[in-house]
Amino acid sequence: MPPVSARLPVFPWDRLEPYKAAAAAHAGGTVDLSVGTPVDPVPEVVRRALAAASDSPGYPLTHGTPALREAIAGWLRVRLGAQSADPAHVLPLIGSKELVGWLPTLLGLTPADQVAFPELAYPTYEVGARTAHAEPVTYRDPVQDLDPTLVKLLWLNTPSNPTGRTLDAAELRRIVAWAREHGILVVSDECYIELGWETEPVSVLHPDVCQGSHEGLVAVHSLSKSSNFAGYRGAFLSGDPAVVRELLAVRKHLGMIVPAPVQNAMAAALGDRAHVEEQRARYARRRTALRAAFEGAGFRIEHSEASLYLWATRGEHCWDTVGDLAKRGILVAPGEFYGTAGERFVRIAFTATDERVEEAVRRLA
Ligand SMILES: Cc1ncc(COP(=O)(O)O)c(C=O)c1O
Repeated sequence: MPPVSARLPVFPWDRLEPYKAAAAAHAGGTVDLSVGTPVDPVPEVVRRALAAASDSPGYPLTHGTPALREAIAGWLRVRLGAQSADPAHVLPLIGSKELVGWLPTLLGLTPADQVAFPELAYPTYEVGARTAHAEPVTYRDPVQDLDPTLVKLLWLNTPSNPTGRTLDAAELRRIVAWAREHGILVVSDECYIELGWETEPVSVLHPDVCQGSHEGLVAVHSLSKSSNFAGYRGAFLSGDPAVVRELLAVRKHLGMIVPAPVQNAMAAALGDRAHVEEQRARYARRRTALRAAFEGAGFRIEHSEASLYLWATRGEHCWDTVGDLAKRGILVAPGEFYGTAGERFVRIAFTATDERVEEAVRRLA
């Protein structure tokens, strides 16, 4: 059997290992701004809900408990303005990476089908296409760059990892109109939607974009970043009823089920705003401090109006920047990990503790 892993790109983070070792040799230890993994406590309201559902001997529902589905639909309506969100048309996920990696397979795409994603993107969109034997293609502007007779699945990512760029309602509407005209399914990865700084990110399910119908649209949301939920694995999708129904049918057969205690914790997280605002305030402080420090050290920041990252360049190859910062004990992600268009940028995550962020600021001064 030819190994499936041979079809997939090299796991990029392994290439950072020598720089990790260099950063660790710094007397003050590493300031790791490379991976966007939460470092603050899981909110008390979430932990209590997980514990309260720990006696869960039976199989959970693939579709999610009625309470969770109501909580998701309520959040979509209140927080994102998706007025027609319906608890019947949502689906919990075992983290959103799971869906990104498996969606082309779950939809039954074939080698004749293209899966399109931004030229600078989270690497799992490509992994998902390759796992399904579909053809991965990238775009700058989907309407201009893609052949609508070949593309079956169009990934949007707003706000974007790695650039922090958001697509406004007019831009989303233009892309959705084109995709609908050609029968292309639009799946919008909105896992950073709670993390707008200089903008209020818009969902593809907002009436200004979808025009009151979810046909041909799916939005994907994650609790990982806004609720420090990455270790629990909890996300969800919502949108086109026919697509949700089909994914539910397939996922039931495949055992893609969110554990019952996690479902309870998700519902609690979605019902509480206080912890999201508290976490946003932490990230806002860290972002402001790091932005000033990196700009002061000669970096130019592009986009970055939302998400957990600063997309920064010093006008040189990304590995030179990574190497130089590693000598100062600061670890960042090379832009090349997200596509060749990023080879002169680095991605700086502000998921480090206040103490580590202060240390980075000192070292950059
Ligand atoms: C764009 C994007 N999508 C999806 C994910 C996966 O997040 P999770 O699986 O924690 O929901 C990430 C994680 O960093 C991401 O950056």
